[in-house]
Amino acid sequence: MSYSANSNRYQLMEYRRCGNSGLKLPAISLGLWHNFGEPDPLENCRDMLRTAFDNGITHFDIANNYGPPPGAAETTFGKIYSADFKSHRDELIISTKAGWKMWDGPYGDFGSRKYLISSLDQSLKRTGLEYVDIFYHHRPDPETRLEETMMALDQVVRQGKALYAGISGYKPAEAESAFSILKQLGTPCLIHQPKYSMLNRWVENGLLDVLEKENVGCISFSTLAQGLLTDKYIKGIPADSRAGRQLDNGAISKDIITPELVNIVQQLHDLAAQRNQTLAQMAIAWILKDKRITSVILGASKPAQITDSLKAIDNYQFSKEELDRIDSILSRAPRLQ
Ligand SMILES: NC(=O)c1ccc[n+]([C@@H]2O[C@H](COP(=O)([O-])OP(=O)(O)OC[C@H]3O[C@@H](n4cnc5c(N)ncnc54)[C@H](OP(=O)(O)O)[C@@H]3O)[C@@H](O)[C@H]2O)c1
Repeated sequence: MSYSANSNRYQLMEYRRCGNSGLKLPAISLGLWHNFGEPDPLENCRDMLRTAFDNGITHFDIANNYGPPPGAAETTFGKIYSADFKSHRDELIISTKAGWKMWDGPYGDFGSRKYLISSLDQSLKRTGLEYVDIFYHHRPDPETRLEETMMALDQVVRQGKALYAGISGYKPAEAESAFSILKQLGTPCLIHQPKYSMLNRWVENGLLDVLEKENVGCISFSTLAQGLLTDKYIKGIPADSRAGRQLDNGAISKDIITPELVNIVQQLHDLAAQRNQTLAQMAIAWILKDKRITSVILGASKPAQITDSLKAIDNYQFSKEELDRIDSILSRAPRLQ
C-alpha cells in the first residue's frame, strides 16, 4: 500500500537542539542495528519506519555493519526509503558510521582514511542516498593518528557526502582531542553517540561535562540495555526476545539475565508503575531528564514498542524522592558493559 505520512506528526514529538549547531533532533530516534537484516521480514521493517515517522521521529540511525549480514540494514533502509520516504528526504536525518570490521583485509576496519571514505561510498550505494546527514567514526582506532581519521570526516563533509560529522565510543579525553582537530579543520563535531542507560552510567564520569563544555550534542544508545530495562524478562526469557533468539552480533545473551538482575528490574518496574509509566518509558525518560541529551536512539522489533516507548516524552520530570529511590535500586544492580 502506498504510504501517506501522518499530517499531525510534528505535533507529537519534541525536538532538541544538537549542541550549538543549527540542527534539532527528535528526543527519540530510531536505530536499525537489530531487526533490519536479511532474515527480518521487510513488511515489519517498513511498519516500524512508518510508525516512527508518523510519530515525528525524523532521525534514523544506521551503520555500515548493521545486518546480518553486514550492510543489510542499509540495503533494507534503501528499499523502504525509495518506496516511502524519498519525497520526505529533506525532513529526515539519516546517519551511518564506519569503524568496526566491515570487509576482509587491512582496509575494512578501524579508522584509516582509506576505510572511512570507501565505506561511506558503499553506504551511499546501499541506501540509494545522495548524501547522509551525519557520518560517524564508530570507535576509536588505537593505531591510526587521530588527525588522519578526523581529516577523513572533514573531507566527506566538504565533498557533500555527509552534512555533519560525529564520533561514537570515544572516551572523554579522546573526544576532546577529536573535537579540537575537527574545529581546526573547520568541521566542528556535531554529536557524540555513547552507550548510556540506568545500567551503564559511564558517561556521567566526565563525558557529559566535556560535551556540554564543547557544545557537542549527545545521542544515547542501548538506553533500554537492549531490552533488559523493560518488563519482558521479569517472568522468564521469551523465545522471540533479543536474548531468547540467541543472536551473536553483539546482542545480550541469556546468562546476564540473573535472578539478581530480574529483582532490580522488578523494583524499577514497580516504581515506573507508580509514575503511570511502563519501565521502558521510565528508562528513556530518566535519560531525557538531562538537557545535555539531544536524543535517545531506540531499538525495536515491533511497531508497538515504538509507540509505547514514545510516551516517555510525556513525563520526564522526576521528583528528588524518585531519583534517590532509583539511585538506591541501581546501587545494588550488576554493572553492565
Ligand atoms: N554507536 C554504537 O556503537 C552503537 C551500538 C549499539 C547500538 N547503537 C544504535 O542504537 C540503537 C539502539 O540500540 P539497542 O537496540 O541496543 O537499543 P535498546 O533500545 O536498548 O534495545 C532495543 C530492544 O528493546 C526492546 N524494546 C524496545 N522498546 C520496547 C518496549 N517499549 N517494550 C518492550 N521492549 C522494548 C526490543 O527488544 P526485543 O528485540 O527483545 O523485542 C528492542 O529490540 C541501534 O539500533 C543503533 O542504531 C549504536
